Parts: sequence; structure tokens; C-alpha cells
Amino acid sequence: MPYRTIIEPFKIHSVQEIAFPSMEERRAAIQRAGYNLFGLHADEVIIDLLTDSGTGAMSARQWAGMMDGDESYAGSRSFYRFEEAVRDITGFTEVIPTHQGRAAERILFATTVKKGDVVPNNTHFDTTRANVEYQRAEARDLLPAESRVPSTVLPFKGNMDVAALRATIEEVGRDRIPMVMVTITNNSGGGQPVSMENLRAVRDICSEFEIPLMLDACRFAENAWFIKQREAGYADHTPRQIAAEMFALADGCTMSAKKDGLGNIGGFLAMNDSELAARCRNLLILTEGFPTYGGLAGYDLEAIAVGLNEVLSEEYLRYRIRSTEYLGEKVDRAGVPIVKPAGGHAVYLDAKELLPHIPPSQYPAQALAVELYLDGGVRGVEIGSVMFGKPQPDGSEIPAPSELVRLAVPRRTYTQSHIDYVGEVMIDVAERASALRGFRIVEQAPWLRHFTAKFEPVEG
Ligand code: F0G
Repeated sequence: MPYRTIIEPFKIHSVQEIAFPSMEERRAAIQRAGYNLFGLHADEVIIDLLTDSGTGAMSARQWAGMMDGDESYAGSRSFYRFEEAVRDITGFTEVIPTHQGRAAERILFATTVKKGDVVPNNTHFDTTRANVEYQRAEARDLLPAESRVPSTVLPFKGNMDVAALRATIEEVGRDRIPMVMVTITNNSGGGQPVSMENLRAVRDICSEFEIPLMLDACRFAENAWFIKQREAGYADHTPRQIAAEMFALADGCTMSAKKDGLGNIGGFLAMNDSELAARCRNLLILTEGFPTYGGLAGYDLEAIAVGLNEVLSEEYLRYRIRSTEYLGEKVDRAGVPIVKPAGGHAVYLDAKELLPHIPPSQYPAQALAVELYLDGGVRGVEIGSVMFGKPQPDGSEIPAPSELVRLAVPRRTYTQSHIDYVGEVMIDVAERASALRGFRIVEQAPWLRHFTAKFEPVEG
């Protein structure tokens, strides 16, 4: 097409109202929630960029598929459609449905990881890390130093540090490394892609040491699109061909179908090892359900089967990646510090850079996230020391390596004017950055504390 504007490749068929709470209502709501954005009612939020997980709009075809859902307990027709879609895209023969990604993680790790093991990953997502640590194993992130600098522009900033992987295997010994994982795209590292070249290099090391390679494939289609755009030799490949090549390098994957499955719920574990799959299915039956539904309704399986195919559409992916890039460009031009380049599913604000007067012990990214809500009703999520700080026995804390606020864009849900509004809010808050104050935690849980912690503003 000769035109510059990349339009949403859909027309809207059904709409939901947005709430417009006033400033006073927002102030009361965030106080009630203990300054934790997870504690807000969704109707207290104007634009909800908390997550791109399960928050997308489904297509008419997905809804039509749902009407045809087969709710049989065993052997549901919908399961076989789902299984065929997953096999077709990933090539993996064993397909185990789960209610979402973390259930696939828990089943995989409970079956393969033991105390004292080490699981290398480019960067573990929070639930992935927690599920590895729950097995009393170490979740080790192997991102090269240059990829951790928010302002450095690299085409594949999600790539694993291959030298560090080799060094880890040599240090720990292959017997204590039950698998290597690669997260595509690298969510906690800024939604950054992994190149095919890097995946191949990781595969070679895994083959050399006979260690299985698993993909955390939540955003596999977005990763495939970045490879098509940025990696030599892939411009003429379809996203589906690229996805097939990525999956062919791995022994299996965990997947949250709430992202690139375009579902509102669901996930799966897939692999080629039938003996391991049998052990995983035994655990699945204990906690999720029979292997042909895995905690999902038949209609959920239908929605995912259709979604997995829709997500690989070039028109969809072009619009999807452009819409986040557009938000990134807008705020970057105004001098707001972000992780560069913009991620596939989200723009990440760099609170360390924007709020140098708030030390990590007072959670600068939490302060920024709260202010974006107060200012414009925009809900993002802290990815910094609230999420990844390590409390020490003496009450101090080891801070996270970075202090980010993620603004994740739900799929097919908001239009360009919503995104323009979010950009305005971000720029306005950035202009008043020096007036923001930090927070202290007054209540927290031992795991995944960011979901439920309560905060108090630090008086300044
Ligand atoms: N892995 C990655 C890379 C993820 O981003 C997520 C979820 C999961 C695993 C777990 O999947 O939620 O279906 O259990 N990420 C969401 C987010 C929650 O907001 O980034 P789940």
C-alpha cells in the first residue's frame, strides 16, 4: 500500500464503555488500594495497560468457534481442533492444555526440576522465576550487559548471552541443568525479540551438552515479526514459516494463550518427548483436569485454536508492532526515557532515569506508575524493585537491576486516539517528575509480593 498510516486491520463489531473517574475518585481509589494498582477496580481505570494478557478483543470468528465448543469431559472435538492448531504451528507432537501459562510452568518444573538445579533463561518472567524457585532451584537470567542498558538500541535485545550460557553449564555441570529456557519475546527485559541466529547458537550448546531447550513462547508471533523485519534472510518468509523454524530449534514450549493465542484464558505445554509428556499429564490430572481439557472449557480451546492462526496474519502483526512503536516514538521525541527500541507488546518507562531523586529503596517505578494513574487514569505495572527486589534478613533489600513501568497494549482493544491520550499523560507526568515522591512497603507476601503489597507514600 502506498500510504504511510498503518490502520487497525479490523472494524469494531461490539464495544464496551470506558469509565471516566474524576481526579478525586482516582485519589480515593488508589489510597483504598494501598497504592497498589492491582487493587483497583477496573472501572476506576480509564485506559488499562496493566497487561496484554487475556485482555485482547476476540474476533467474530473466535466467538463463532466458541458457539461450536464441545464440552465433553473426555475426547472433546474442541480439544482435537486445539491440538491440531498447536501441532501445525509448533510441530510439537505432545500437546497438553492448561488453564494458563503458569500452570504449564508449574507442571513442567515439578516434573523435571529438583532442589539445587539451575535453570538458565534470557530473562525469567516473574511467574516462571517463582515456579523455578518453588522447586528450590535457581532461576538464572543470562542477558548480555549491553542489553540491560535501557537506552541502547539493539535489534535483538532479548538475545541470550551465549558465552554466559556455556560458562554456566561448565560451572554448574549439565546434570544440574534440567533445561535451558528462552523467553520470546523477552517480557521482563522490555518485550525485546530474540534472533533466529541466537536461538540457533543456544540450540547448538544445548545439543553439545544434551540439555533440552524449552521456549517460553507467549509472544512467539511478535518475535517472528521482529525476525522478519530485522534479521537478514527473513524478509520474504511468512510469520508462520519463521515461527515453525523457531519451534523446530526447541524441544518443547510453555505457552500462555492469553497473549499470542488471542484468548482471554488458556495455555499449553507442548513437547516431543512422549515419556516426559506422560509424567506431565499425570500431574495435570491431579490439579488441572483431564488431558483433553486441562482446566479449560471446550469453548476456550476453540477460541485459542482460531486465535493461534489469526495472530500470524501479516496485517495484524504489522499493525500490532507499529502501535507500540508509535507510542514509543511519541514519548521518546518528548524526551521521556524509555527502554529502546519499543517492545513488541509494551512500552517500558525508565523510572531510574526519570526519577533520580527517588532511591531504589523507595521504589521509583511504583511512584511513577501511581502518578500515571492519578494524572490520567492510565494503569501500567511496576517492573522493578517491588517485583524483583530481594528482601534480606536485616530488613534491607537488594534492588532489582532496573526500575521500569510497563505500559502493555492489549491486542485489538484500543485505537490510535487512546494511544495518543496515553502519550499525553506520560509526557505530562514526565514534565513534573521532580515533584514525585517515593513509597515504602507496609505489607507484603513471601512470593510474588507485587500483586498484593500495600504501600505508603514517603513524606518528602
Ligand atoms: N511467561 C511470560 C513471558 C509471560 O509474560 C507470562 C505472563 C507468563 C509466562 C505466565 O503466563 O499469565 O498465562 O500464567 N505474563 C503476563 C504479563 C501476566 O502481564 O506479562 P500466565
